[in-house]
Amino acid sequence: METKMNSVDNLVDNEKTYKQAVDILREGGLVAFPTETVYGLGAIATDERAVQRIFEAKGRPADNPLIVHIGKKSDVKDYVEKIPEVAEQLIEAFWPGPLTLVMEKKPGIIADTVTAGMDTVAIRMPDHPVALQLLKKLELPLAAPSANRSGKPSPTEAEHVYHDLFGRIPLILDGGATGIGVESTVLDVTVTPPVILRPGGIVKEQLEALIGPVHLAAKPEEKTETPRAPGMKYTHYAPEAPLFVIEPDASILEHAVDSIHQQGKRVAIIGPDELQTIKADWYFTTGAIHSHEAMAANLYKAIRQCDTTEADIILAIETDLTGIGAAVMNRLDKASDGKRYSE
Ligand code: TXA
Ligand code: MG
Repeated sequence: METKMNSVDNLVDNEKTYKQAVDILREGGLVAFPTETVYGLGAIATDERAVQRIFEAKGRPADNPLIVHIGKKSDVKDYVEKIPEVAEQLIEAFWPGPLTLVMEKKPGIIADTVTAGMDTVAIRMPDHPVALQLLKKLELPLAAPSANRSGKPSPTEAEHVYHDLFGRIPLILDGGATGIGVESTVLDVTVTPPVILRPGGIVKEQLEALIGPVHLAAKPEEKTETPRAPGMKYTHYAPEAPLFVIEPDASILEHAVDSIHQQGKRVAIIGPDELQTIKADWYFTTGAIHSHEAMAANLYKAIRQCDTTEADIILAIETDLTGIGAAVMNRLDKASDGKRYSE
């Protein structure tokens, strides 16, 4: 299959490209598009066969459900049995935006494959002009996971989608780099208090300021039962070389680099501007040390850049858990499979 990548920035006439995208989707095909978090791989959420193509293109396990993207707040009632009051408040405050709400689904509308046979559905309204324009022209909901091959970091640029899904999908809408860089927060509002199943773009502090205490889901390995967000149990965001998390300390870092070199190995480092060391074989910066936002925006690209090197080992410098730092560390925890660097 030929994969086209069409720019949809403000300087070009986009009408033809949107029409092409809508035609492909209506015929049951897949289109990748930018959102404010990461690029998504869309199929019409009510079309069972189209949704199955998402799983095939990504190599995604069938028991990991997808997020349904809608273009208007009022669409949510078409897919949800009963909207909890707390959800109404959250929708009013944070949509469009990087907050996904898990609610009880209305049976028989959204394809079963989207929800992996569960009786809940995850819904969000993305805050990106291209995603919103596409949804508006389509007038149907889009099931869309991140547009990467399963196990790889989510794409924050159209190029990343092209790299992962070339030959597997017909069209990528290129809207430039996404802003936030980590995925939406997934919040289960079927329970009280609501539970964050995946930390993301809307942070715990923002949620709690509006609706009071929310819980953070335990890591799957700390639980005996099946994880509530099925995606939590799979390998994620993993680069080719083993990745270790390390403290933000210049001397610990230099020590680590020396000791890795003594073993005859080469090292790539992901970290802030301030800790850049010429001792590293490769250093991919994620921006200013105190900016969690910059780290979120640049992390996935940096992980992908490590895959273009011959590094034997990757060190990723950790940050604290405030604000979007929680989402960043959640992803690093997965990318490293919980490994921390120690001598
Ligand atoms: O920012 C985002 O959310 C991006 C953009 C494209 O919108 N999408 C995204 O989708 O990250 P995906 O498929 O990569 O992650 C969806 C997450 C998974 O962890 C999945 O297990 C969880 O949402 N999920 C989906 N439906 C669920 C449900 N009914 N109950 C619990 N978790 C659900
Ligand atoms: Mg994903």
